[in-house]
Amino acid sequence: MNEVIKQLTDHVSIRKFNDRAISEENVNAILDAAMRGATAGNMMSYSIIKIRSKDTLKKLAASCDNQPFIADANLALLFVVDNYKWHRFFELYGIPDAFPEYKGPIINDMILGMQDAMIAAQNAVIAAESLGIGTCYIGDIMEQYEFHRQLFDLPEYTMPATLVVMGYYDKKPQRRSRFNRRFVVFDEQYKKIDDDFIRGMFSEYQDEDSDFAKKFYKRKMDAAFFAEMRRSLQLYLAQWMDL
Ligand SMILES: Cc1cc2nc3c(=O)[nH]c(=O)nc-3n(C[C@H](O)[C@H](O)[C@H](O)COP(=O)(O)O)c2cc1C
Repeated sequence: MNEVIKQLTDHVSIRKFNDRAISEENVNAILDAAMRGATAGNMMSYSIIKIRSKDTLKKLAASCDNQPFIADANLALLFVVDNYKWHRFFELYGIPDAFPEYKGPIINDMILGMQDAMIAAQNAVIAAESLGIGTCYIGDIMEQYEFHRQLFDLPEYTMPATLVVMGYYDKKPQRRSRFNRRFVVFDEQYKKIDDDFIRGMFSEYQDEDSDFAKKFYKRKMDAAFFAEMRRSLQLYLAQWMDL
């Protein structure tokens, strides 16, 4: 196994950081790696907001569904889906006049921007891990539409794709298990999924008597943060959906 694959397969999210600072040189190396990711049409339809302010990190710890470890991060990178800059470029160079059907970015632009942003984020994660820096994605950044838009001064046609918090750590937690490859990778076509397939896939967590499914659903899908994420995402997505 080569070094890159070893690093990738050793990945664990880190949620306990120590006080050691990430040097500017390393921050820049992480950002360079992020920006070299593949990007649809080479458009780079994202922006990255670099967050080192303790005050902002503390605010995020509260606004991202109360996750106190966010405040202890040394650096957070906010990856923003960004169709605003290209929209401004098109406006500046007469596209709406030349192409009257152009009314602004549409759903295609948003989804491609989301893909670009996540690829950049994962490049940043891989680069950080290669430097011995721990990382954790924070999906809850998609909540609290009004607060986060104001906190980061986000214009129209932008939305947070993900937040990655980073810092050095003392102890690496155990690797978390993944579903077995046969439940994830199919040959040539999607597989016929019968009940036995589903039972096998979840056998590590759920047998006929346990209530894993109910507990999991209650903890995630039935939780207040999920309702808030839905509310917030509907507001973000409305910018693209009505075109
Ligand atoms: C899109 C996304 C959102 C996530 N959001 C959070 C989060 O808000 N808080 C958190 O502690 N971990 C979050 N994680 C980390 C996952 O919980 C973690 O990747 C998963 O449990 C597997 O653990 P591992 O990364 O250590 O292998 C997120 C990961 C992804 C990819």
